Amino acid sequence: MGPGETATKRGRVLVRPQYRQSFGETRQRTPCTLGTTGSPRRLTISTLPHPDTPVDRYAAIYDGFAQSPTLRRIWVTTYREYYPADAEPYGFVTLTDLRRMAEALALGPHDTFADAGCGRGGTGLCIAGQRGASLIGIYTSPAAIPHASATAHECGLQGRVRFHLGEFARTRLAAGMLAGVMSTDAFLFAPDLPAACREMARIIRAGGCFVFTSFELFKASTHFQLAPIHDYRPMLAVAGFTVEQYEEPPDWERRMRLLLAGIVAEAANLRREVGDVGAASFQQWATERPQELPDARRVLVVARRT
Ligand SMILES: C[S@@+](CC[C@H](N)C(=O)[O-])C[C@H]1O[C@@H](n2cnc3c(N)ncnc32)[C@H](O)[C@@H]1O
Repeated sequence: MGPGETATKRGRVLVRPQYRQSFGETRQRTPCTLGTTGSPRRLTISTLPHPDTPVDRYAAIYDGFAQSPTLRRIWVTTYREYYPADAEPYGFVTLTDLRRMAEALALGPHDTFADAGCGRGGTGLCIAGQRGASLIGIYTSPAAIPHASATAHECGLQGRVRFHLGEFARTRLAAGMLAGVMSTDAFLFAPDLPAACREMARIIRAGGCFVFTSFELFKASTHFQLAPIHDYRPMLAVAGFTVEQYEEPPDWERRMRLLLAGIVAEAANLRREVGDVGAASFQQWATERPQELPDARRVLVVARRT
């Protein structure tokens, strides 16, 4: 293998120099520093139930994160200097991924962007904090929102963040209102991916980016009950995006296996900290997903609205 190359599931690719370079960096704290007290202004949270909102299978998981030092320890020890501590993701996004996403979004203080499938909100909050932009966290899982709201307050970002119930294919946001959309490890769950791409193209203004990490699934996933996803590029192109970057982040599979093995090894602690329901959900994920990884590939995508 030559310099600058890395092995991937689809052959060898040239890794962009800045990507490799930033992998060696130690973590810098973003302006989203937990513990900062903000003014007591209330967040705007859309609380009306959305007719298409799926069953909230994430409730026990998000409550579990708030209660479990063990979960945080597993993530920290797996990702080490690549762990985005301020974002505390429920997924596999690294500090390097988030930096690349922020770079592609290129937001300024007058911009509004969205984090779609925002979960506990930390990923979008970090980028909003860094760039001074306003954030709309789009969520399908109401259970995550108290945690996301608390984090926004701790970061002092409550004045420019709101959380909005919606779905990739049906955000209920106005056309062209966003400078960009980010999403970490959620897009694969969109029930209708072509419709979701069209909706992203509708809400992002011309020149803005849809930036996401997700998985291709070479075969259907039994664990997630999802059909195969072979390639996001054709549907993004049809929806009106030019795909500028489409890359497999180095080392994702080794880290993911390590993290899932950590969850299995810590089963007893997790049961004690998050309760039986949450712990069972984590264990099912940690035991089933590794078997499916040979048929999956993680990708980081930057698609520009033309
Ligand atoms: C693995 S979590 C990732 C959460 C967050 N982005 C992070 O990295 O911490 C997947 C998220 O996708 C959301 N989700 C699932 N189906 C969705 C859909 N159709 N539209 C938007 N979000 C969805 C879930 O509610 C969950 O928060």
